[in-house]
Amino acid sequence: MSKPRSHGSANSPEAAEDVAPDPWVVHFDGYDPADEGRREALCTLGNGYVATRGAGPESTADGVHYPGTYAAGVYNQLQDRIAGRTVENESLVNLPNWLSTRFRVDGGPWLDLDRAEILDYHQELDLRRALLTRRFRVRDEAGRTTAVTERRLVSMDVPHACALEVTYLPEDWSGRLEIRSVLDGSVQNTLVARYRALASAHLDLVRTAELAPDSVLLAVVTNRSAIRVAMAARTVVRYDDDTPARPERRFVDEGVVVGHDLVVEARRSEPVTLEKTVAVFTGRDRAIAEPADEAQRWLLRLGRFEDLRTRHERAWARLWERFHVDVVWDGRMLTVLRLHLLHLLQSVSPHSADLDVGVPARGLHGEAYRGHVFWDELFVFPVLNLRLPELSRALLRYRHRRLPEARSAARDAGYAGAMYPWQSASNGEEESQRVHLNPASGRWLPDPTLRQRHVGIAVAYNVWQYYQVTGDREFLAHDGAEMLLEIARFWASIATDDEARGRYVIRGVMGPDEFHTGYPGRELEGIDNNAYTNVMASWVLRRALETLGVLADDERLELIETMELDRDELERWDDVARRLFVPFHDGVISQFEGYEDLAELDWAAYRARYSNIQRLDRILEAENDSVNRYKASKQADTVMLFYLLSADELRDVLGHLGYQVDAELIPRTIHYYLERSSHGSTLSALVHAWVLARSQRKLSMEFLAQALDADMADIQGGTTPEGIHLAAMAGSVDLLQRCFCGLETRQDRLLLDPYWPKSHGAVEFSIRYRGQPLVVRMRGSHAEVTAGRGMWRPVQVACRDEVAELRPGSRVAFPLTGTFNLGSGGGSALRDAATRRKPRT
Ligand code: BGC
Repeated sequence: MSKPRSHGSANSPEAAEDVAPDPWVVHFDGYDPADEGRREALCTLGNGYVATRGAGPESTADGVHYPGTYAAGVYNQLQDRIAGRTVENESLVNLPNWLSTRFRVDGGPWLDLDRAEILDYHQELDLRRALLTRRFRVRDEAGRTTAVTERRLVSMDVPHACALEVTYLPEDWSGRLEIRSVLDGSVQNTLVARYRALASAHLDLVRTAELAPDSVLLAVVTNRSAIRVAMAARTVVRYDDDTPARPERRFVDEGVVVGHDLVVEARRSEPVTLEKTVAVFTGRDRAIAEPADEAQRWLLRLGRFEDLRTRHERAWARLWERFHVDVVWDGRMLTVLRLHLLHLLQSVSPHSADLDVGVPARGLHGEAYRGHVFWDELFVFPVLNLRLPELSRALLRYRHRRLPEARSAARDAGYAGAMYPWQSASNGEEESQRVHLNPASGRWLPDPTLRQRHVGIAVAYNVWQYYQVTGDREFLAHDGAEMLLEIARFWASIATDDEARGRYVIRGVMGPDEFHTGYPGRELEGIDNNAYTNVMASWVLRRALETLGVLADDERLELIETMELDRDELERWDDVARRLFVPFHDGVISQFEGYEDLAELDWAAYRARYSNIQRLDRILEAENDSVNRYKASKQADTVMLFYLLSADELRDVLGHLGYQVDAELIPRTIHYYLERSSHGSTLSALVHAWVLARSQRKLSMEFLAQALDADMADIQGGTTPEGIHLAAMAGSVDLLQRCFCGLETRQDRLLLDPYWPKSHGAVEFSIRYRGQPLVVRMRGSHAEVTAGRGMWRPVQVACRDEVAELRPGSRVAFPLTGTFNLGSGGGSALRDAATRRKPRT
């Protein structure tokens, strides 16, 4: 059986040392150049508008360090000639490095950690406050010891504000402390080694200026998308008693690098503190005149580091109230869950809501996948829907604005409806690369992964789930229904009627398992009847028809008119939803038609030969073989069905398609693919932890540990430095709420079907259901839901077979052997029957 493999797993010493006794803190001790990339990604600070990696302010991109700054939605396109063809790539742009601050003493060399004698080094990410602190002591060639303490923030209060504070303590010397504080626009996109052979210079200089003796401006523009980006920075230096140090200043203006050299007469044992405050604006911002003008104006308004910090912390406190989570069982798990929530909210936050941005798969934390948006939001929405539904709505609007592009993509491919792109960035055009580099063989290869049409299923699923959680009919009636119906229309049109078998078939696609790009010998043509795609297409078609039923008459008529829907077309949708083909073999659902004819891979031999076989596709290609020949998946594919649909729902969809499902089909199918998966995507552990939760607790917990370690321990062995895995991060929180606590929002009520191991003690989290703040708590033997502060309307809560009404100011509890109400004015006492229902799957 393929078990989760840990590379520095939850219990390994190297992972454990990152978690401090305080579950709000992640810390790193000692300077370790080999680990710097992972730390930079994990210590990224952001606010959903802009984010900056946790690189040292003295560092530059040199193979060890990578000080990247990214603003949500700021993409640019560059062209290259590869393997005889012109390729264009759109990338999230690395913006000027606002952090850049170096020091030296008495004209000596500028501090370079990789050359200095480091006496001690400690780095700490405060999750509650989204504050990064770094402390170190260095001794220079002349034997002078300096202690440095640095704090930084990217404000959650004013999204355009970033700030750095550095305190220098001359421990055993007095002399000239020279500091160079600049905005460095010389940066390029060079983080990902695989892309380094491709064009990477995205920025042109617009202008630099010295705004005041302590302030400078740098304005640049992306060279194709023509997005202006401006940063204004103010650097001040003070002594310990808060008096200005009045340093000698020299304006530094070296083309795209602008700032000041400051010289302070430092005295032994007397700290000197620098504050650098930066205002960032881009041409994509709302309510602005021009980015450089705004950066200058706002720089004057931004207060001192302490003022910014206080307001920043208050903004985070408000967010944490919404995203409260507590787990008694395992302190490390709690820290990692909070780290995951932190990075989720740094990538998409209330500040993103106005920006017309999607959910970038790797956060705003690096350059992997060029900052593109995939289907990963499928794993992110369940967390946002239940806490910041207004943000989910804004992110769905990003998809809606790109509906015309998706319609046109479908038309160009010969289909109707909307065909959403596998990878997208600025305008919703397909941005998947057409050739990719296999680092194992050094070969550039054609890349057909855009055949993953299932991305539209994720969009439709998200629309439906958002509506289920929020009851937001207004959204459904307009943007939501239009997307859902256009996606359904696409599935009805790509499905062709195979009269011989009396079924509709969908040919030439790829499933979530990205290994199978085609059949042996026809490697780029996609596969036929991917079970995940076909079953979910049927689900989408039925939800589309159901949506028409939910809409008011005038809304329905308007939609039918604008979409030019007629009875024949709706009948076809209904017909396709009933007659799509689903392949089976050996008593399991086949991943796709013909899967059973593929060869079995000798997993043991490959595991023995390679230390890491997650990217089996690359290994086999480098061996002049092809993964397409084998029963081998990169990640959950068919198994995704059990992740998205409950056993009842799946039975319903398959039954609707005319397939009888025996009780063992699901566990059989899960185990069949478990033995044939390399778990080459961080999503795989997540999905397997979920689907095994009720049948194989131990294995499920091992997968959960792996999902928690995805970035914390860089489980893929080198991908975290290129950016976090946002879906795995959000998905791990979702595992807790929807899988282990069995939280669902159906039938106009909140449903709980807890499956949290009693031995793991209590778990608690806050959610918003239909606008009502609630706190859900599992305490081994019973589940409780408490009205949160500000709840004003009763909510129906059900646990297994029991239903209770939760009123403002009250609490309902459901013991496993019975259910009862607690607190004032709660619903009526409930019958004793909660354990009768069999667990799902
Ligand atoms: C996975 C995809 C995912 C993408 C972005 C790939 O490795 O196979 O499912 O969408 O990464 O996270």
